[in-house]
Amino acid sequence: MNVYDGERMAELMAAEGMTATDEANAADLVVLNTCHIREKATEKVYSDIGRLRKHGSDPMIAIAGCVAQAEGAEIVRRAKVDVVVGPQAYHNLPKLVADAAAGKPALDTDMPAESKFGHLPARRRSGPSAFLTVQEGCDKFCTYCVVPYTRGAEISRSFARIIDEAKALVDGGAREITLLGQNVNAWTDTDGRGLDALIRELDRLPALERIRYTTSHPNDMTQGLIDAHRDVEKLMPFLHLPVQAGSDRVLKAMNRSHTADSYLRLLDRVRAARPDIALSGDFIVGFPGETEAEFQETLRLVDAVGYAQAYSFKYSPRPGTPAADMAGEVPMEVMDDRLQRLQASLLRDQKAFNDAAVGRTCTVLVERAGRHAGQMLGKSPWLQSVHFDTDARIGDMVEVEIVAAGPVSLSAVERMRAAA
Ligand code: 5AD
Ligand code: SF4
Repeated sequence: MNVYDGERMAELMAAEGMTATDEANAADLVVLNTCHIREKATEKVYSDIGRLRKHGSDPMIAIAGCVAQAEGAEIVRRAKVDVVVGPQAYHNLPKLVADAAAGKPALDTDMPAESKFGHLPARRRSGPSAFLTVQEGCDKFCTYCVVPYTRGAEISRSFARIIDEAKALVDGGAREITLLGQNVNAWTDTDGRGLDALIRELDRLPALERIRYTTSHPNDMTQGLIDAHRDVEKLMPFLHLPVQAGSDRVLKAMNRSHTADSYLRLLDRVRAARPDIALSGDFIVGFPGETEAEFQETLRLVDAVGYAQAYSFKYSPRPGTPAADMAGEVPMEVMDDRLQRLQASLLRDQKAFNDAAVGRTCTVLVERAGRHAGQMLGKSPWLQSVHFDTDARIGDMVEVEIVAAGPVSLSAVERMRAAA
């Protein structure tokens, strides 16, 4: 979602006559769009600010995103920055930049009732694979997580607005759209429709080839959405469904409101609808009080699922969350050891998933040029990176045969160019 928000902020500033640059040295304005989910991400912001200041070019610096939301004026105290803008207020970025240029204070961390989306310029150009935020915020309050505090309560954008934005993205070149939300499958509208209704409507856009969505919560995985995986060909066979841990005691302490068993039974239903679905997840090791035996339940759950890929993290206490005050801190070396063992299991399954693709034919959406001339990169339906030699161009759908697999990517040969 930070990628999406970054694009929208760039579009806002483009409407003010600015152009984007990849060179921090050449910039008049640097926007750091920040993440507050773990301490490491937050600390990075301060080292980035220090590095920018050292360049000597002295650009205006704006801190956007969840660190801005959580720390507010503290950032201005700790580091000399010009603008601080939270994730629900960034439609005001042009005004804040103008205020800062006029020497006025420029801090906005409001969470207005009226959404920012109505104040953003229309989408114009898009790469082949586009993000589209449909839902934001979270009401789940997992005890370790800052998201409900930094992104705010769950809100869903309107059906019509989302479809309008999707059409604009497709007109601008998108062939794949990934619907985004902290709880994307909690999307709903005033008519009581769910994410599956949105997906079925997007399915009707002829030039749109692929639909994805992320991130989902197990409790919002409705039968309608599961059925969409069976019925809608454009809905790609990939599901990111974080579980966090395999021990029911830990899950309860995390306030996850599902058990290991209810999660596994849910995956059975998803696999019944779409047998080839690639599964992905998020894991936290070293939650307060987690014992070795409880950690091993996480490893057992991983063995039972066979993830195609997954993200795993050491627990990071976040100020203001309930877990930050829980007893039973797990020592860093124990967390390191558990993370290593978990990642070894996840990597083993990822490699097995990729190996199983060898010999198969599939379609790849070409997203960018590869490392050497004539090579292009794109994604398989199961979100694997695929590289192959071709004279196809960015945005083409190409049918390939997978010939070799590594842990993080596949290599393929082109079969025939699918009709553009
Ligand atoms: N410490 C470690 N990982 C966390 N996540 C969220 N909060 C924390 C935390 N305090 C992880 C969860 C979530 C992902 C986006 O980040 O696994 O699903
Ligand atoms: Fe955070 Fe996700 Fe839990 Fe919401 S559901 S509190 S975003 S981990």
